[in-house]
Amino acid sequence: GRVEKGGHRHWMAKEIAEQPAVLDTALAHYIHDGAIRLPEGDVDFSDVTRIVMVACGTAFYACLTAKYWIERLAGVPVEVDVASEFRYREPPITDGTLAIFVSQSGETADTLAALRYCEGRARIVSVVNVETSSIARASDVALPILAGREIGVASTKAFTCQLAVLGVLALKAAQDRGTLSAAEIRSHLEDLTRVPALIAQALNLEDDLSDIARDLSEARDILFIGRGPMYPLALEGALKLKEISYIHAEGYASGELKHGPIALVDDSVPVIVFAPSDDLFGKTVSNMQEVMARGGRVVLVSDAQGLKAQPGSWHSAQMPHAPDLWGPLLYAIPAQLLAYHTAVAKGTDVDQPRNLAKSVTVE
Ligand code: G6P
Repeated sequence: GRVEKGGHRHWMAKEIAEQPAVLDTALAHYIHDGAIRLPEGDVDFSDVTRIVMVACGTAFYACLTAKYWIERLAGVPVEVDVASEFRYREPPITDGTLAIFVSQSGETADTLAALRYCEGRARIVSVVNVETSSIARASDVALPILAGREIGVASTKAFTCQLAVLGVLALKAAQDRGTLSAAEIRSHLEDLTRVPALIAQALNLEDDLSDIARDLSEARDILFIGRGPMYPLALEGALKLKEISYIHAEGYASGELKHGPIALVDDSVPVIVFAPSDDLFGKTVSNMQEVMARGGRVVLVSDAQGLKAQPGSWHSAQMPHAPDLWGPLLYAIPAQLLAYHTAVAKGTDVDQPRNLAKSVTVE
């Protein structure tokens, strides 16, 4: 009933709403007196020459986001792979490789097999929600995301908590390698600790987003676009939507639109654009204008500055201004709420979508 779901209709709604609180908990675990701490064991990036990150589903998109952070902040090359490809490709693991496995359940069969392949070849770090899981136990260091039990099949709070822990790791890498000053690290950590309150503000957009979702629920195909760290979020937004609403959705890097998907655009295809007003905003906007010129229905998710610079979209949602770097955590909220309310409008089984399992423990 509703009581166990804290008054919410679905577990997914409860888990979306919990994010400010669980993120506070996760960040307090890893940030102490404004500095990074890793209570479960150090992850030393000083001599790391390459990082491979492996996961499935939503956790894979968390890894793709972290690649942008780690490469930009610490200058270490990062490869990201889905576990089912990694394990059978048997990629070379060169000296100095750090392998990071991200899994909510810690029991996903492909991710565990990918980890086994790296045993004895690389130092193994995992980022997990279930601390007693197989993946946690097989790791040199297992970092808990502290999201609490996640029941909805479509991952929400685990995703943002994974991002929070990976964000701290990216800053740890920069600290170990001396690529950022102590003051820069402190300031990025401070920004990160402000994210839960910004997420609480973004949650206030729920009514607006549910109005937009009612229109989205009539569509047959929906595109999601973003640039830079908003590109993985476009992939996650599309995954979330298709998982629970059964509407066909694809995420694309904004710059790839003209290499194919723009052929699909007409006035029946909504295009959801995640574009905080950052360095890449102008580029994303020109992609958006290409969509609008073809009659495409743009839903622009941006901040006050971005919406002012780019009026005329079909729908828009005004987000709080995102701190440099941490936009993906904040913009995960509209991605989740749009998917959730579209599914509610369609009347699908939000918490138990057809054909999907919470944890895929067989291949
Ligand atoms: C399933 C779930 C997804 C999840 C993925 C990876 O597909 O439905 O929500 O992202 O598995 O699961 P893991 O537990 O490894 O994060």
